[in-house]
Amino acid sequence: MRFWSGLSLVVLIFLGSISCQDDQEIKRQRYITEGILIYKNTCANCHQNKGQGLASLYPPIAGADYLTNKSDVICLIRYGHQGALVVNGKTYNRPMPAQPQLSDLEVAELTTYLYNEWGGETKVTDVKTVTPILQKCKHRE
Ligand code: HEC
Repeated sequence: MRFWSGLSLVVLIFLGSISCQDDQEIKRQRYITEGILIYKNTCANCHQNKGQGLASLYPPIAGADYLTNKSDVICLIRYGHQGALVVNGKTYNRPMPAQPQLSDLEVAELTTYLYNEWGGETKVTDVKTVTPILQKCKHRE
């Protein structure tokens, strides 16, 4: 009797952890799907569909060393960037427009897409992580 109840507990925990992973995976797919749409509408003009950038005008996002600092990326998406910026040893110097219309959730979805597509990640950058970062951005008006 004790053996069976112990076993069913193990089975329950096992099933529970599977459905948790499923929830995470569904959330990740949802963030990425939204992120792709936002990217196509607001970013691809300059950075191009495959994130390869455009000549010396717009830096690449795919393979960019700039991705190592995720907080900088999150702030830059919302507040843009003025002045010179070095990506993979190459200097770019055109304004990146601010996107104040993007909600915290949209910034999170976009960041999740960028990092899953070009940053080697397979996880969500949750809006709960993004909001406090956005509140601390240096270039915030
Ligand atoms: C009008 C063109 C334009 C648009 C639209 C634009 N960017 Fe940029 N982006 C730039 C430029 C130019 C820079 C370099 C900034 C500088 O030189 O000061 C840059 C820099 C960046 C960087 C840091 C450098 C790198 O390549 O890794 C990231 C990340 C980035 N943009 C992401 C985005 C995302 C995400 C969007 C959509 C919300 C977006 N950009 C929309 C022009 C643009």
